[in-house]
Amino acid sequence: MRADFFGPQGDTRWNLERLRASYPTFEHHELDIRDREKVVALVRQLRPGAIVHTAAQPSHDLAAKRPFDDFDVNALGTLNLLESVRLACPESPLVHMSTNKVYGDRPNTIRLRELATRWEFDDPAYADGIGEDLSIDQSKHSVFGASKVAGDVMVQEYGRYFDLPTCALRGGCLTGPHHSGVELHGFLSYLIRCNLEARTYRIFGYKGKQVRDNIHSHDVVEFMRRFIEAPRAGEVYNLGGGRANSISILEAFELIESISGKPMRYEYVDQHREGDHICYISNLQKMKTHYPGWAITRDLKSTFSEIHASWVGRIENAPGLVLSP
Ligand SMILES: NC(=O)c1ccc[n+]([C@@H]2O[C@H](COP(=O)([O-])OP(=O)(O)OC[C@H]3O[C@@H](n4cnc5c(N)ncnc54)[C@H](O)[C@@H]3O)[C@@H](O)[C@H]2O)c1
Repeated sequence: MRADFFGPQGDTRWNLERLRASYPTFEHHELDIRDREKVVALVRQLRPGAIVHTAAQPSHDLAAKRPFDDFDVNALGTLNLLESVRLACPESPLVHMSTNKVYGDRPNTIRLRELATRWEFDDPAYADGIGEDLSIDQSKHSVFGASKVAGDVMVQEYGRYFDLPTCALRGGCLTGPHHSGVELHGFLSYLIRCNLEARTYRIFGYKGKQVRDNIHSHDVVEFMRRFIEAPRAGEVYNLGGGRANSISILEAFELIESISGKPMRYEYVDQHREGDHICYISNLQKMKTHYPGWAITRDLKSTFSEIHASWVGRIENAPGLVLSP
């Protein structure tokens, strides 16, 4: 589906092959999450001890072009999985990847101040970032954000109403060396690839000072593991890199240039993406309170370096792709 959504550059089959080669016990079942009967049958057959649900149409911009596909995968696909789990293994913890886009553009109503290279919250209530108590109602979500709200609320409901051990992780920017970033999705991975290949990166609005907090996939998976070991029912968590791992596009250019030694080429488009956040930093307090052993272990510099090294390896091994001089 990813190659269908994003074209061959977004295909993740290389990573599937990597998993098959690296882990002999890894099993892959080719299945469309929209296919209700097959999802129910597979979950019934496997009765998994834990479920991490990451299948999605993950892009804002694409959702507006393909709203049926977006809703069918993100909302109905999530319901298919939840109901399958309730029927076959209601005791198994289910972690759902939601998104901070469930807050719509409400974060843009927080007072901001403009610094030299980034936007910053100008309200002490958000000094540590945005918490889970921000309203998800009555804001502009984009079609993608709205389909993810449906999935997120269903995950909560299966926890609250049916008492299933579920949680929805409202991700900020999740990334890592194996991310296949494309212009529409996967900002750091794509930005670093552009730097390596001397491609022009397009900044969409907000002067390039828009801020995101980035979390390495290792820290994401660590949190999932802790939730699965000691699950709660119907929880939501804002999952991001927190203030220490926040960066603007302009600052990201500087950091990758210092790692790769190559100048960043970019152009500015004076139109921000629909519903895009100006400044988003996750408040990690609830995660840390519920799971005190969990913390961010990878800083931005090491995450950038890992992504950079991975792209160098992938590009060198991909015929037809050339590194910039
Ligand atoms: N990467 C991020 O920065 C980020 C941020 C917030 C939330 N999330 C959420 O995390 C989850 C994973 O995101 P990602 O960045 O890994 O995206 P991704 O596109 O890399 O992964 C989604 C996967 O779902 C699969 N998929 C799509 N349609 C499917 C279908 N019909 N049936 C089965 N599988 C299908 C795709 O093939 C792909 O492998 C998504 O729910 C996304 O909304 C990601």
